[in-house]
Amino acid sequence: MVLTHSLPLVPVPASAVAGDGRMPLTSATRVHGDSPAAAQLIDAVERRSGIRLSPADDATKPGDIALRIDASVAEKEGYTLRIGDEAELVGSDEAGLFYGIQTLLQLLREDEAGWGLLRADIADAPRFGYRGVMLDVARHFFGVDDVKKFIDSTSALKFNHLHLHLSDDQGWRIQIGSWPLLTERASSTSANGDPGGFYTKADYRSIVEYAASRHMIVVPEIDLPGHTHAIGVAYPELVEAPVMNDNLISDSERLGQPLPVAGERYLGWGVGHSSVRIREEGTYDFVRDVIRELAEMTPGPYLHIGGDESHGTTQEDFDHFVERATAIVVEAGKVPVAWHEVGAADGIAEGTVGQYWGMTTPQGTHAEEAAHFVERGGALILSPADATYLDMKYDKDYPLGQDWAALIDVRSAYAWEPTAVLDVPDDAILGVEAPLWSETVGTLTEVEQLVFPRAAAQAEIVWSPKDAPERTWDSFRVRVGSLSPLWKAEGISYHPAAEIPWSRR
Ligand code: ACM
Repeated sequence: MVLTHSLPLVPVPASAVAGDGRMPLTSATRVHGDSPAAAQLIDAVERRSGIRLSPADDATKPGDIALRIDASVAEKEGYTLRIGDEAELVGSDEAGLFYGIQTLLQLLREDEAGWGLLRADIADAPRFGYRGVMLDVARHFFGVDDVKKFIDSTSALKFNHLHLHLSDDQGWRIQIGSWPLLTERASSTSANGDPGGFYTKADYRSIVEYAASRHMIVVPEIDLPGHTHAIGVAYPELVEAPVMNDNLISDSERLGQPLPVAGERYLGWGVGHSSVRIREEGTYDFVRDVIRELAEMTPGPYLHIGGDESHGTTQEDFDHFVERATAIVVEAGKVPVAWHEVGAADGIAEGTVGQYWGMTTPQGTHAEEAAHFVERGGALILSPADATYLDMKYDKDYPLGQDWAALIDVRSAYAWEPTAVLDVPDDAILGVEAPLWSETVGTLTEVEQLVFPRAAAQAEIVWSPKDAPERTWDSFRVRVGSLSPLWKAEGISYHPAAEIPWSRR
């Protein structure tokens, strides 16, 4: 038997056996099956190889690719893929078919004889149901086409949630009909004074729809009660005056960034200075309106209310706010999601999901705060900053990104285990999310250099069985290196990290 790690697949499947040689792929190859996945496969093969396959609906012949759905072949989102004299892909549902296609595209290789699919027998399904990436569109704004390309490149690694960080001190990015000045007055700039922007409701809906066609659920975040300076640019009556802290002052000096001034646009990266007015009823009218409008245009179950780094707010006020805000999300028919600090409040809405962003070895009260979500009947998404944060530099000389959590090379991005971080039952962990904060990146090309290849490490951690024989760094580095021709064909500007043996074809 050929060693399975000779299959160039990321994330490594639950079970995969390599066969002998390749099934040739030519313009005579036909695709059977009427799922939207068939058209996605035909387009992706053409982008990769220049070969346009044709759809077919008669009996399969050797050399054809047949797609179908059969719920009995695998768990939800799973699939089987057999490539012999013909290729047969069976999804347990549409998502499974889509993920099987991503696997098939990684098996499409070119050699002296031309294009072919590596023969294999694969049965696959995800380890965790929540596999997320986050894009911070507040510190820098990324337009609809950029977000769609981000959806393409990350869904190809079998991520199924896209968390959009839609508001922060530097800008408000989503049209809200009942509070029009948010986008009229507080969206035009980004961090560093770069241009901003916002999504109209139609833009947002088109992102949600596009994501759904790639089996991704959009998780919108309005960060509250802190990270809200931009709200005060539009509606000064909703926010407190900025509260300075030592880190903010020293970081602002080091970076040459002016300190925040009430009612004026803030273009620096400092955190912890802003808050909505917690003891004013008008604040809750605002929160209720925003959450209602966001819920109306979000078909997915989750709505994220932030809750991180409210350094200028007393604990009592913070608790009061997040208890009310999580209840408002439930009233709007959604499951609240919040950064782990929100777990400090006793009375958060039952079922609230916590997003843990502390270190892989928890510090201070972070683990306790995270565990409280579980005690309240909720669950956790893990985003340990020293492993999953895609905005950390690869090494100290890397030009993009920050370094406050860690320097994260590809190997350290790969070297952590989601069930080993917190003392909670394994089934309280929904999955993993890898966030990309955008203080230092203003273009999608720069975003991609931070995201790839490290997002592939998180994809494998959240998708593949913990004990799969190939779930090792030595195997992963070779397999991720084999993705480079596919990433190049898709126009993904990955960082060519020296740890990885990148293949040419
Ligand atoms: C965060 O990184 N402030 C969630």
